[in-house]
Amino acid sequence: MHMFDSSKTLYINEDRFRKDFEILAKIGSTEDGGVHRPALSKSHLEARAWYRDLILESELEFRCDGAGNRSAFLACGPKNAPTLLLGSHLDSVPYGGRFDGPLGVLAALETLRVVKENGISLPVNLEAIDFTDEEGSLIGLTGSYALAGKLTKEDLDNPRGGRQALLEGMKRAGLDDASFLSARRIPKSLAGYLELHIEQGPRLLKKPTQIGIVTTIVGICSYHLRFIGRANHAGTTPMLDRLDASQGASSFILQVRQTILEKFPECVANVGNIHLSPGAFNIVPERADIALEFRSAEPQTFSILEKTLIGKARAAAKQFRLGLESDLLSKHSPTPLSSQAQNAIEQAADALGLNHIHLVSGAGHDAQALADLCPAGMIFVPSQLGISHSPKEFTHWEDCVNGANVLVGATLRMANTIITE
Ligand code: GLV
Ligand code: MN
Ligand code: MN
Repeated sequence: MHMFDSSKTLYINEDRFRKDFEILAKIGSTEDGGVHRPALSKSHLEARAWYRDLILESELEFRCDGAGNRSAFLACGPKNAPTLLLGSHLDSVPYGGRFDGPLGVLAALETLRVVKENGISLPVNLEAIDFTDEEGSLIGLTGSYALAGKLTKEDLDNPRGGRQALLEGMKRAGLDDASFLSARRIPKSLAGYLELHIEQGPRLLKKPTQIGIVTTIVGICSYHLRFIGRANHAGTTPMLDRLDASQGASSFILQVRQTILEKFPECVANVGNIHLSPGAFNIVPERADIALEFRSAEPQTFSILEKTLIGKARAAAKQFRLGLESDLLSKHSPTPLSSQAQNAIEQAADALGLNHIHLVSGAGHDAQALADLCPAGMIFVPSQLGISHSPKEFTHWEDCVNGANVLVGATLRMANTIITE
């Protein structure tokens, strides 16, 4: 083993990286070129089993914790040295794309292989982790929150995907509430966290720029709102006598968009699901259940936005003489990322001759769970058409390779700044 010479640029093995990426993209693949791998589903567990085999084939140590997080570990540092974590996630949103998550996991694994093959010793050990349920089909950022010691029993009791779905997933994976709550790591054991990801929006493409360096990850808050009226005969009840839950919900949904456009131009909000019940042509709907999510990069705005939107829901319910129930399902605060990590990424991009900009991430990422435990950073590469969470998600292979090479360079730089501090 020899120490890393920072004047030397190391590159990933492009063919191996691409081959792995393409094999992985077939697991849970859909006919339209996407993947369907919701957390702890059969296809997700199949992808995770494949990842374990790949780790073993690469002659790296395989590790798994109580939250189901799965890692490759490379002891390239002194005994008891802290670990520089690299990674992302192998789960997908329902009917999502191939790049969101897997790119970062495979680039992390590739980084460990390159360090091992070059016989480099570092002041830290390296780990390439696949976090459980980043996407939130069950809870969201579940594995990274568990590792950070921030996952609570309440999170497990009231998951946004429903307790039953969580129980079924845990059973398939051989996990349980207690194991999830045991996955906490001591902050001192972590030297930092780096993640490569597709941008999932249009900004790098518009510039155009090869590499994005993330400054902050937006805060994300999700609510389940229920407008409650009265079921009645849709033919005989006069229009003005109806307590129609669909009216309050629809009025609110339109106001969500208007409120963002007029008062919160830096924020976004989404109503991603609506369910009317009993749900028949000839019954006035008694209940309208909606899934509301909103995001902001700025803590104060995030909190004002929450009050404003919940206030609008109350007013819409009142206008149509309905009841309103609201359940706060999850709230992840806006998270600034480490300047040390941003510098390491910038230097790595410069060394490779890749142009770069700094930008805010509008998507949530595991890095936000780790950012107050250790220096965390993220590298973005361009998403064609700015599309993501869709089978149409696409990033040119050259950009994937650029991102993975920046991850290698940033890892070595960050590893080496850790001792000198
Ligand atoms: C995860 O990708 C999210 O931002 O919802
Ligand atoms: Mn992702
Ligand atoms: Mn995603």
